[in-house]
Amino acid sequence: QIPVITIDGPTASGKGTVAHRVADKLGFHYLDSGALYRLTALSALRRGTDLADEHALAKLAEHLQCSFQGGDIILSQENVSDAIRAEEVGNTASRIATFPAVRHALVGLQLGFRKAPGLVADGRDMGSVIFPHAPLKVFLTASVAARAGRRYKQLIDKGFSANMEDLLKDLQARDDRDTNRAIAPLVPAEGAQVLDTSEMNADEAVDQVLQWYAA
Ligand code: CDP
Repeated sequence: QIPVITIDGPTASGKGTVAHRVADKLGFHYLDSGALYRLTALSALRRGTDLADEHALAKLAEHLQCSFQGGDIILSQENVSDAIRAEEVGNTASRIATFPAVRHALVGLQLGFRKAPGLVADGRDMGSVIFPHAPLKVFLTASVAARAGRRYKQLIDKGFSANMEDLLKDLQARDDRDTNRAIAPLVPAEGAQVLDTSEMNADEAVDQVLQWYAA
């Protein structure tokens, strides 16, 4: 069995950074499942797809022409690594992720990331839906204030403008949608280790995950 470590949690909890570093340390592959929802959202926004048309969105998701090359994310030959991080794309991703047909359309693509010697999978439902038999499941969380601060820094570093008040509002709206949606709601998977990183830096969180994995 090829091992999988799942790292789920709310928006801006630092999952991406932690999951990436854990994958590097173990020499494992890395799945950024949120990027798949963001890619679908970006495609839809660019094509002007009706964001209420579940069937059309699922079709887009199913036929995504994307690849992950080193740190870069390519969509139909274009490097969209930065474009998919825009808040508008994140908000759209969170809306379309409430459609069962869209989630279903992305399952096969996600399962395909499980390759030797192992996978670290980052998202909302990695431990609960996509890899329910993963030997280690982590639920990473942090206070709203800590998460808003991290998202602010991330956006500024990428050259986007950001406003703390709007970010806090967006973050809470996103939490609400992720937690209360009917399909794959954001809750710790059965058997998940919960890690609150409000007072922790990324290295400390990575060390904790590696300790759990080694145990
Ligand atoms: O950066 P942030 O954590 O906000 O988002 P992300 O991980 O890039 O994912 C973007 C959106 O896709 C999230 O707001 C979720 O609603 C959705 N998503 C999901 O439903 N299931 C996943 N496995 C990953 C992301």
